[in-house]
Amino acid sequence: MKIANHKLKILIVGSGGREHALGWKLSQSPLVDRIFFAPGNAGTSTVGENVAIGVNEIGRLAEFAEKQQVDLTMVGPELPLTLGIVDEFNKKNLAIVGPTKKASRIESSKIFAKKLMKKYRIPTAEFAAFDDKKSALAYIGKSRFPVVVKADGLYAGKGVAVCSNFAQAKSFVEKLTGKIVVEECLVGPEVSFMVATDGVNFQSFLPSQDHKRLNDNDQGPNTGGMGAYAPVPIASQKLIGRIEKEIVAPIIKAMKKEGCLYQGILYPGLILTKDGPKVLEFNCRFGDPETQPLMTMLKSDLLPILLSIVKGTADKQKIIFKPGASVCVVLAAPGYPGKYAKNLPINGLNDYKDVAVFHAGTGFKDKKILAMGGRVLGITSYGRSIKEAIKKAYGVIGRKGVWFRGMVYRQDIAHKAIKNL
Ligand SMILES: Nc1ncnc2c1ncn2[C@@H]1O[C@H](COP(=O)(O)OP(=O)(O)O)[C@@H](O)[C@H]1O
Ligand SMILES: [Mg+2]
Repeated sequence: MKIANHKLKILIVGSGGREHALGWKLSQSPLVDRIFFAPGNAGTSTVGENVAIGVNEIGRLAEFAEKQQVDLTMVGPELPLTLGIVDEFNKKNLAIVGPTKKASRIESSKIFAKKLMKKYRIPTAEFAAFDDKKSALAYIGKSRFPVVVKADGLYAGKGVAVCSNFAQAKSFVEKLTGKIVVEECLVGPEVSFMVATDGVNFQSFLPSQDHKRLNDNDQGPNTGGMGAYAPVPIASQKLIGRIEKEIVAPIIKAMKKEGCLYQGILYPGLILTKDGPKVLEFNCRFGDPETQPLMTMLKSDLLPILLSIVKGTADKQKIIFKPGASVCVVLAAPGYPGKYAKNLPINGLNDYKDVAVFHAGTGFKDKKILAMGGRVLGITSYGRSIKEAIKKAYGVIGRKGVWFRGMVYRQDIAHKAIKNL
């Protein structure tokens, strides 16, 4: 792929905190000229220009990139990748960061990923795959509990249940469509591990940790993620080396060997068991909210890292991080993750020292920024230590800082990291 020598025009596909954080980081690059977001949110319009094209309108996105002479497109969410946005851009000879439709099956089909891991002996939970509910339930009936039941395809974070008895498993299976995976239940802390790969070589980002449950102490329903921090104290250099050697390098090699060359961001969701790190799933893109602390911690310019993915030079592109830590606390709309309130005015959207306010579910109405629902903001701090980062993030949340009516957030983001210092 040919990339121009002038300052680059970038298109970021998506509208969440992840995309705002990526754009915020790219906007600091001396190599970047202009940034477009499709469709973006109120926050992204302060670091670039929003374009009213949805993330799944891949034909329109390619036309836009061609017409505006975009030099590089970065895809945030999985949906356009699994729809083949990269294949569409490749056809038009437009540079884009992300795996092809075929390679993105590593996320869009859990059965594909599990079979690949089995074939190449990459550590993961034991599993069985089924074409229909009946055969899945027959197998579950003979299993030891707890078991983990998963939908094969994309399910927006609602396709997995850890079931402690048959009745629970049955009622969950009834709700699913498509093929089903049943897994052994593993125990241990979870870590998000992202790498930039050109299909052969890779460079790792800092390990980070998400907080999936709505309430403190990991209680309540699952969400898209209520907060994150990086780095993760339990993920030592030694452990990172092991993850790279036992998981990342072999899966990249396996994908190539299977004719699914994987270029883009690869994100294995890991569980650290007493037998070592194991893969829960692979994602074919950056995590959200984890990308918010990752971009805050990133010392290197992001643009050359993204370019190394499409140019095939990931072996030479080191990724350098700052010392210290970053914590992101998500402020969600009242009612989230269920039905939520919309159009709420937000107070305190100011500049704060060492804290970035990344937007997700925000929009403009009559030039005023409103909370439009879902995850609304990611309050993301930088501190010399994890404790300082926690203090700084929570220090700007509330009536004297960033606030909207009924906002929902966890009080204990990154507390696990302190316990493990
Ligand atoms: N084999 C497993 N053992 C224990 N917990 C699991 C297992 N697989 C998944 N989980 C739990 O379910 C969550 C969601 O599963 P995951 O495979 O990451 O699916 P998705 O992110 O697509 O919903 C994980 O973060 C983890 O907490
Ligand atoms: Mg997951």
